[in-house]
Amino acid sequence: MSLDFVILAAGNSSRMHSTTPKFFHTIAGKPVIRYIIDAVHECNPNNVIIVTREELKHSEYFSDTAVKIQPEPLGTADAVKYALDALSSEYTIILCGDMPMISAEQLKNLADTSSDNALIAMTLPPEFRHMPYGRVVINNGKFEKIVEYKNTTDAEKSIILANTGVYKIKTDLLKKYIPQIEKNAVSGEYYLTDIFEFIRNVEVIQFSDYEAFHGINTMQDLAKAEAIMQNRLRQKFMANGVKLIAPETVHFSYDTEIERDVLIEPNVIIGTNVKIGSKSRIFAFSHIQDCVIANNVEIGPFARIRGNSSFADGTAIGNFVEVKGSTFGSKTKAKHLAYIGDTTIGYHANIGAGTITCNYDGVKKHKTTIGNNVFVGSNSTLIAPITIEDNTILGAGSTFTDAVPAGALAIARQKQTNLPQKANDIWKKKGKK
Ligand code: UD1
Ligand code: MG
Repeated sequence: MSLDFVILAAGNSSRMHSTTPKFFHTIAGKPVIRYIIDAVHECNPNNVIIVTREELKHSEYFSDTAVKIQPEPLGTADAVKYALDALSSEYTIILCGDMPMISAEQLKNLADTSSDNALIAMTLPPEFRHMPYGRVVINNGKFEKIVEYKNTTDAEKSIILANTGVYKIKTDLLKKYIPQIEKNAVSGEYYLTDIFEFIRNVEVIQFSDYEAFHGINTMQDLAKAEAIMQNRLRQKFMANGVKLIAPETVHFSYDTEIERDVLIEPNVIIGTNVKIGSKSRIFAFSHIQDCVIANNVEIGPFARIRGNSSFADGTAIGNFVEVKGSTFGSKTKAKHLAYIGDTTIGYHANIGAGTITCNYDGVKKHKTTIGNNVFVGSNSTLIAPITIEDNTILGAGSTFTDAVPAGALAIARQKQTNLPQKANDIWKKKGKK
């Protein structure tokens, strides 16, 4: 069976009250529309067509789909009309671009049905029976019609089978009937659901998984989807042997990878592109993204990690340390109050408290290279570009501007001067007893 997908994403997201369209807002670091496109690709379709607005057509998120433009949002049937000439398979599945929790399994279930035409309906749990979904009317066990909520009678309002807006339709029927759908007299929109006035033999596939069909229309809907997704990620990691002391306070990304026996303390945020190796510990209030953390590494508390950084086995990053775009060799430590940016550090190095790599000259970023077994004294300022070779010792409180050769002790601060009794003279002058 050959299959195409049409994803409707031309609505104007007005209820979000945001300059970003709802399809591009993220849930656990991934845009709403990418959840749907990725689930669709798992079904191995021939063509995936997004129907969207002119101003969104160049989005990077549509790099692996065809894009069609609906000039004005005149309704779901009008949107499908613009995809018709791109359809070339026997069947087409249509779904909405604002339903990110739908799973590839549910779509495969619909794709695999032997019926020519089918739709996914969900049974509404009691607390969602007031929701304004279209209602699926079944008579004598057979599909009869979909009634848009606005048009339901009181009796139809009590139907608990809701239309999810996900349909499989024979492509030749879609091409034949979409142009015949008439404008709804009340709303002035063209309703895709009206196609079922022409197509009668429809299988209704029922799911009771309400979360899967949760749509994003408002910021509240987005926050609810985030909560559902975060909870799924927490459960997944704990099931895989990750220890979370207060799971509800830890935030992950869709692509986070964590090995077993990792400890994550409360109030940790893990942004996208993070891998954490076994037995590492992420202490409270740390914010980490774009990094690879090997085994037995300590991060935090209160650490900030970003910009493609990596930490080899046994490294330790302590409180109030920011690391950006840097590589730490095994057992290297920066335990207190430091900024390490665009830096490569070898193994067994110790970065003292208050060390700053001055990587930015106001125009360009520059690199710092620190070798193996290096001791950087506290409050060192390293003005990049600079190279500190192996086995060196850097004196505390220094500003380093030049390379330090292997094995050297480098110091770059003024010599101390003691003026005997001078302080006592001053106190006397000021009148202090
Ligand atoms: C639709 C269904 C309803 C179903 C519900 C499930 C119709 C007429 N009704 O209603 O039966 O219960 O979904 O969530 O289809 N869109 C466009 N162009 C347009 C209008 C909409 O691309 O001109 C897109 C939207 O961006 C959205 C999707 O189509 O992704 C659904 O449109 P929406 O207006 O949200 O339909 P509902 O009123 O929710
Ligand atoms: Mg909707």
